[in-house]
Amino acid sequence: MPERIGILTGGGDCPGLNAVIRAVVKSATRLGWETLGFVNGYEGLLSPVTYRTLDYREMGPLLKEGGTILGTTNRGRFSAKAGQGEKASIPVEILDEAKRTVEKLGLRALICVGGDGSLTIAQQLFERGVPVIGVPKTIDNDLEATVVTFGFDSAVACATDALDRLHTTAASHNRVMVLEVMGRYAGWIASHAGIAGGGDIILIPEIPFNYDSVCKKIAEREAMGRTFTLIVVAEGARPKGGSYVEQESAAKDHETRLGGIGAIVAAEVGKRTGKDTRVVVLGHLQRGGGPTTFDRLLCTRFGAAAVRLAQEKKYGHMVAHNPPDTVAVKITEAIGRLRTVPIDGDIVRTARALGVSFGDE
Ligand code: F6P
Repeated sequence: MPERIGILTGGGDCPGLNAVIRAVVKSATRLGWETLGFVNGYEGLLSPVTYRTLDYREMGPLLKEGGTILGTTNRGRFSAKAGQGEKASIPVEILDEAKRTVEKLGLRALICVGGDGSLTIAQQLFERGVPVIGVPKTIDNDLEATVVTFGFDSAVACATDALDRLHTTAASHNRVMVLEVMGRYAGWIASHAGIAGGGDIILIPEIPFNYDSVCKKIAEREAMGRTFTLIVVAEGARPKGGSYVEQESAAKDHETRLGGIGAIVAAEVGKRTGKDTRVVVLGHLQRGGGPTTFDRLLCTRFGAAAVRLAQEKKYGHMVAHNPPDTVAVKITEAIGRLRTVPIDGDIVRTARALGVSFGDE
């Protein structure tokens, strides 16, 4: 029987998952290994065990395809993330059942592609003796120990494109246009897209804002003859002393779902300034579609490196981007805490240098 490895994609989908699968299967095939793809994330490891053998000949078109051919879920029997900083422990019976599947199938390694929640599960499996290798995925870019996660660049490209489009309407109608973007408790998407898309005000979780500052910026622009304003709001942004805005529909077995701050900001700004104000919630458009060129390359490097780690039996590690190299780091280094935008870092400094307001001064 040939040597075998397994792969699964966990948590929310994002551009580039298929590109990672392709790179893993192609690299493994060249070593004479077989790759089994588990269906619907970790659930595929549990009864009824669901997987399929991935043939490198199917991989061709996957480089640029969005979503994941394996399916994924962020709920069910493996739910390792409850809210900000809260980690649920997976029951040992579940971990042991997954371990038995890996052993029965004779897998040399189980490659777990996911963000904070999925890698937390991977670490718990590793601690029960499962030979896991992690690949860091999330549009939120909030994982430690890697300079960037895959999916982030694609999400930023989507949000930047949205800002370009909103810009023309804002300018034509002399409006305030508010764009709410994803990112959970980190403002990476908002800050990067905000700068790349020419936002005038960027509200991020790392810098609590106040409405007086936001409206002051709009008034300053008006005084300079700029009769429209683009505001980018991260879903995790909140006013000083205020709380995160959560969607009521979040089910009990699901982690907190953020969203709605954009509409609140638009209503308050409209009321205070008297300006015609509109809000757009970009939502899952940021997770859909194919990866950018940057993400295609990153995913391919990550997939190839994950197979290298399997060769070296470097279990409990995750591949990470540390330019110019792809390196291995312990999964525990990535999941300890969320990586947020440094408030005195280059991104915030660059934006402030251009006169962008974070609603704090
Ligand atoms: O973690 C990725 C992400 O898209 C977040 O930015 C967002 O808050 C969340 O997932 C949305 O999750 P769901 O698809 O379950 O609504």
